[in-house]
Amino acid sequence: MNYHLAPMMGYTDCYFRLLAEKLYKSHITTFSEMIVDKAIIHNEIKTINKHFLVNNISAIQIAGSEPMEIKLAIQKLNNIDRINHINLNLGCPSSRVQENKLGLALTQYPTLVKECLHALKTYNKKISIKCRLGLGLEEDQKYIFEYLSMFQEFEIKTVYIHCRNGVLNLDTKKNRTIPKINYELFFKCKDVFPNMELIPNGEINDLETIKHLSDNNINQFMIGRQFTNDLLFIEKLGLVTIDNKVRIISDYLDSFEDYEYLNLNLLKKAIFTLLSKVNGAKKIKKDVSEADSIIKVKKIFESNQIWN
Ligand SMILES: Cc1cc2nc3c(=O)[nH]c(=O)nc-3n(C[C@H](O)[C@H](O)[C@H](O)COP(=O)(O)O)c2cc1C
Repeated sequence: MNYHLAPMMGYTDCYFRLLAEKLYKSHITTFSEMIVDKAIIHNEIKTINKHFLVNNISAIQIAGSEPMEIKLAIQKLNNIDRINHINLNLGCPSSRVQENKLGLALTQYPTLVKECLHALKTYNKKISIKCRLGLGLEEDQKYIFEYLSMFQEFEIKTVYIHCRNGVLNLDTKKNRTIPKINYELFFKCKDVFPNMELIPNGEINDLETIKHLSDNNINQFMIGRQFTNDLLFIEKLGLVTIDNKVRIISDYLDSFEDYEYLNLNLLKKAIFTLLSKVNGAKKIKKDVSEADSIIKVKKIFESNQIWN
């Protein structure tokens, strides 16, 4: 089975992604937080350095709605060796994003989406899309079927589908609760588009859901919040084994030794996602919070026998 760490603003920064990549290796694909194409056009070096460590192997998630601008951003990304995969955000309902016709809002205009896809196709490595199952509260398969046909026309095979509708003018939190999860429609999409690589997202938080999806021939899952609550949860469910976590974490921490832009707080935030349901977590978190260097954080993991 393969897992995909969903792009999440404020969470899937380079520190958290590198930790997930080191722990799960080829079992996981990670995605940057959404990056607006304009940020890449105006200063790609700064933008990439802020979002990617040299050894991150993540996809970059971009948002844009001006075909010319997407094209300019792609021109820059085509020259960046460490990035091999662009994901286009067509699902974010946030009001700020909406104002600029990005994300979900862009899907109100299929002709414009097509023009954006034309621009996206100038990328010379992997392209994927992240979208919703529908637009507005009414459940209707037409939206997703028409968009999947369009992506297929552009030979974009990999599509991550957040398995609930997105509603404009509804805040992002309510957009993750009011529209209902509809895996059944997702299964229908898989049947109608058998040659596409469709990957479900949304509330994949427990063994029961994973089993329900696997029973329907799904072996790839995009997971967001549950990974940020407990990065090790798929290991706890017995779905993946990780040998010698302490060694992996030490190696992870060592990779920041000469990193000039180190943000120790963000690194600690990533590390905290390992401590869910761990004995003595409160004390360990306190020690990590107080640590003022990477070496001290490393010692905490090496001396506490957290997972023995
Ligand atoms: C705090 C937060 C930030 C998010 N940021 C993004 C984003 O930048 N791009 C995106 O496509 N989706 C974003 N999402 C949506 C997630 O990628 C995912 O689709 C959603 O959380 C549902 O998956 P989950 O139930 O596994 O968390 C965000 C979600 C949350 C909670």
